Amino acid sequence: MIKVAVLGYGNIGSGVVQVLLKNKETIAKKAGDEIVPACVLDLRDFPGDVMEDKVVKDINLITQNPEISIVVETMGGTKPAYAFVKACLEAGKHVATSNKELVAAHGPELLEIAKAHHVSFLFEASVGGGIPIIRPLVSSITSDAVTEITGILNGTTNYMLTKMSEDGLDYDAVLEDAQERGYAERNPAADVEGHDARRKIAILSSLAFGKYVDYEDVYTEGITKITSADFAYAKILGSRIKLFGTSKKKEYGSISAMVCPVMITNEHPLFAVNDVMNAILVRGESMGDLMFYGAGAGKLPTASAVVADVVNAARNPKITEIEPYEPGKMTVSDHLKSTH
Ligand code: HSE
Repeated sequence: MIKVAVLGYGNIGSGVVQVLLKNKETIAKKAGDEIVPACVLDLRDFPGDVMEDKVVKDINLITQNPEISIVVETMGGTKPAYAFVKACLEAGKHVATSNKELVAAHGPELLEIAKAHHVSFLFEASVGGGIPIIRPLVSSITSDAVTEITGILNGTTNYMLTKMSEDGLDYDAVLEDAQERGYAERNPAADVEGHDARRKIAILSSLAFGKYVDYEDVYTEGITKITSADFAYAKILGSRIKLFGTSKKKEYGSISAMVCPVMITNEHPLFAVNDVMNAILVRGESMGDLMFYGAGAGKLPTASAVVADVVNAARNPKITEIEPYEPGKMTVSDHLKSTH
């Protein structure tokens, strides 16, 4: 039996427990052993919940518990997630996280620590919710040189842009709707100002180009400056407005990357990606274009991506699945600068 601890029992954390319990037979077959949620770390209590008696308040009860071999981190943010994840990896536990803030800021160090302790640091759910994109970038696509990644990487803003365009709703009404549906995160600025997409394109670029891309180096513009006049022009031109995160390979050790709204026609492969859906276009020298499409946010799609990492860690406990990046930092310019 493989025991899993879940750090942070919010939307995604409780979804992970739900998926582990609901799909336990399928998961056991795929992992080669039963996987059980042994405890959750959270400062709150959860009376009446299936994990009611399994809530712990002290990370040491997880790091020092030899029975727990895999830890799921769904706390969000970097404090205390970074310290907790580091301690778990150093204690020889695999970690699967949905936390893009953590991966974008501390990914290089955490990958090094994981490798040094012969465990995996996995983050499939940090980009694209339920879409499997991290694993293809570090496994099936490794024989080819990726030249470009362009994605609709934020479900909330894609939902908002779709509603504003199709229903003519104004920005505030659409934001409220997105929050009520549970799409928008606690702080909507991360979504609407483009910071969420910025972290995600930085993570994908680091993996695709093999060197750390610092999200702070990625030029970022969100959707807050888009007006109804922009939608009117887009309509006249038969176009849609989308928030793109994009990065392109330049010379070795250098890329251009940015997050910004773009107007695209129906000839673009991402034109039909609407509502909360995400899609990522990966271009390679030999393979041509690949498209990854799916639910980019939401409790169960994101939880299923976390559980996929848990199953992989259980199946390959001796393999460090994602290798550390090359030392140093990628030089990043934005497309606007690089084309002038
Ligand atoms: N707020 C994010 C989004 C959640 O809307 O895409 C998933 O990272």
